[in-house]
Amino acid sequence: MASKTPVYAFLICVLQFLHLCAAQNVKGGYWFPDSGIAASDIDSTLFTHLFCAFSDLNSNTNQVVISSANAAQFSQFTNTVQIKNPSVKTLLSIGGGASSYNFHGLDLDYEYPLSANDMVNLGTLLDEWRVAAAAEAQASGKQRILLTAAVSVGPSVDGLRYPIQSISRSLDWINVMAYDFYGPPWAPSMTNAHAALYDPSGRVSASSGISSWIQAGVSANKLVLGLPFYGYSWQLANANNHGLMAPANGAPGGSGDGSKGYNQILDFIANNNAPKVYNSTIVADYCYSGTTWIGYDDKQSISTKVPYAKQKGLLGYFAWHVAADANWALSQQAKQAWGA
Ligand SMILES: *[C@@H]1O[C@H](CO)[C@@H](O)[C@H](O)[C@H]1NC(C)=O
Repeated sequence: MASKTPVYAFLICVLQFLHLCAAQNVKGGYWFPDSGIAASDIDSTLFTHLFCAFSDLNSNTNQVVISSANAAQFSQFTNTVQIKNPSVKTLLSIGGGASSYNFHGLDLDYEYPLSANDMVNLGTLLDEWRVAAAAEAQASGKQRILLTAAVSVGPSVDGLRYPIQSISRSLDWINVMAYDFYGPPWAPSMTNAHAALYDPSGRVSASSGISSWIQAGVSANKLVLGLPFYGYSWQLANANNHGLMAPANGAPGGSGDGSKGYNQILDFIANNNAPKVYNSTIVADYCYSGTTWIGYDDKQSISTKVPYAKQKGLLGYFAWHVAADANWALSQQAKQAWGA
């Protein structure tokens, strides 16, 4: 099993345990070890694909490595989540920030390519992945591993175009991170919906990002829409001015990025009797109490975004991240909204 290239060696390990079906649709979710729940607590019946995040790259050898702190959990991830749902597929997510462990695929979270050269190299890497995965599938007689990547909301990052052709020919799909449009650290002075489906004023939105990926040449059935199971909180400048785009002063308390999981947001609403507002024009929710304002996706936003994705011909949706859900309410909502 000696191999010259580490990626190749890694794929050989993965393929030893491989059995997978072509994706009909993707009801995906990311999980990571310190997210608040154990892998065994994931209701995997609500998902077709689970992404285990993150493994790293050794910058000297380019090998995929899993930290020793995560090794035990990652090695058991597939077995664990398949107890409740034997047909759920698992992907090892690289970046975001391992070895093999019978995952069904690899997911690259490269946040973000920063130069034209990075984009060229990304394209080369994706094409090498495809060739290596196909060669191994042929050698082993087993099905090819899934190859995916998480990408920005649109086909360019700071004006740099993603390698569209390599993405189209080499990946099974891309996870479009249709969120984080605004957040207190990088947009402190105004409250905002960080993952609105639409924006009539022409600012970035999930739908504008999806449309521009399709326009750039990636077919709709290779796109998977990201759903945030979290929101961002801002400190209002004036407690009585609590709408969208109200003056604000960064995150409450001035520390951290202001992000809150959906389960924490529901606690905030319950504890403060906070009013909730759903805006159907942009498809986003927010709530507020005192000088705290939180923009997020509640059930209505999720159950509007998922049919949008289906109607557009997208392959599916994914959640970042499964542990932020509250009693699986959003995961259930999304699954139900997609239908069979
Ligand atoms: C919904 O959001 C849009 C964009 O911010 C805004 O123009 C509109 O007034 C909001 N609708 C309601 C009912 O608040």
